[in-house]
Amino acid sequence: MIPIAKPIIGEEEKKAVLKVLDSGSLAQGPEVEAFEKEFAGFCNADYAIAASSGTTALHLALEALGIGEGDEVITTPFSFIASSNSILYSGATPVFADIDEETFNIDPKKIEKLINHKTKAILPVHLYGLAANMPEILKIAEKYDLKVIEDACQAHGAKIDGRPVGSFGDAACFSFYPTKNMTTGEGGMATFKHKETYENALMLRAHGMRIRYHHEILGYNYRMTDIHASIGREQLKKLPGFNKKRQDNAKYFTDNIKNAKIKLPNTPKGYEHVFHQFTIVINDRDKALDKLVANGIGTGIHYPVGINDQPLYKEMNCSAFKTPISKKVSSHVISIPVHPSLTKKELETIVKTVNSV
Ligand SMILES: Cc1ncc(COP(=O)(O)O)c(C=O)c1O
Repeated sequence: MIPIAKPIIGEEEKKAVLKVLDSGSLAQGPEVEAFEKEFAGFCNADYAIAASSGTTALHLALEALGIGEGDEVITTPFSFIASSNSILYSGATPVFADIDEETFNIDPKKIEKLINHKTKAILPVHLYGLAANMPEILKIAEKYDLKVIEDACQAHGAKIDGRPVGSFGDAACFSFYPTKNMTTGEGGMATFKHKETYENALMLRAHGMRIRYHHEILGYNYRMTDIHASIGREQLKKLPGFNKKRQDNAKYFTDNIKNAKIKLPNTPKGYEHVFHQFTIVINDRDKALDKLVANGIGTGIHYPVGINDQPLYKEMNCSAFKTPISKKVSSHVISIPVHPSLTKKELETIVKTVNSV
């Protein structure tokens, strides 16, 4: 079976972990601090704080920006559930704007009519490794004085006109889950534009504490360990190479998949896609899935149901948000392997099978 995702861990990561184990400093320490600085540099962000996952990074970012009960946050229905669950954790209410069928990302044209006096933020997701339309989203945010939190959990290294994700919003969050473009096992990172929100996030990560055992606000234990950070530092060095290989694989698919029944992913001009997923659209998805599985090709459906139509969200009446494009594409998308471990032979098998669907 060709897996849909495969992390690449080398001798460098193993050595780094052993060094931390030998150091005796196993929890949050100097490795985390160094990783934060290096990651902020990579994103052209002013501040970064490591967290235990992408989900906890999102929760920290929302609360650090002062978003909570009574506030509304506009987001996309077409994402992993964590994008929206983090809004619920903060006590705010998610509001769903439909997506653009060409990019799978939130459609800025659908955002403005959802804004009211309760709206405090926009949380776009850079889905599959392609940045959302940040120039338009930032214009809307400025017009209505809204915060912007980028969910960049799938888009480490993605860019718009050379500017990396993580540098656009008031905050941006990344995941280092093993399927992602770089990994720490579990882990996450939040970047911040302003010192004040960064300092809030530091407190929230450590049980609301600035001075040892003085707890000013309700916080959490969302810390990353030095063991995880040591893996992340080595992975970050390799990330440009991993992304290049994903982009080369995607180009090979784009050049060689010739099947009129299949729609290939689009990259708008000026955008650098980092292909966390290579997601195709096909009408008869079940037949295509059977064929791919029969030929040993791992697949993923990202995502079969829009968040606003998930049982939890239906109960909160979120299916009242009309998102027909999200509904439509969720029935037709299939992700095929694009990860950097793919061999030439595996790429050929994937193309041959997809062409015969
Ligand atoms: C778009 C998106 N947001 C948030 C998350 C949450 O990240 P984590 O799994 O590290 O908590 C993920 C992870 O799959 C994701 O894909």
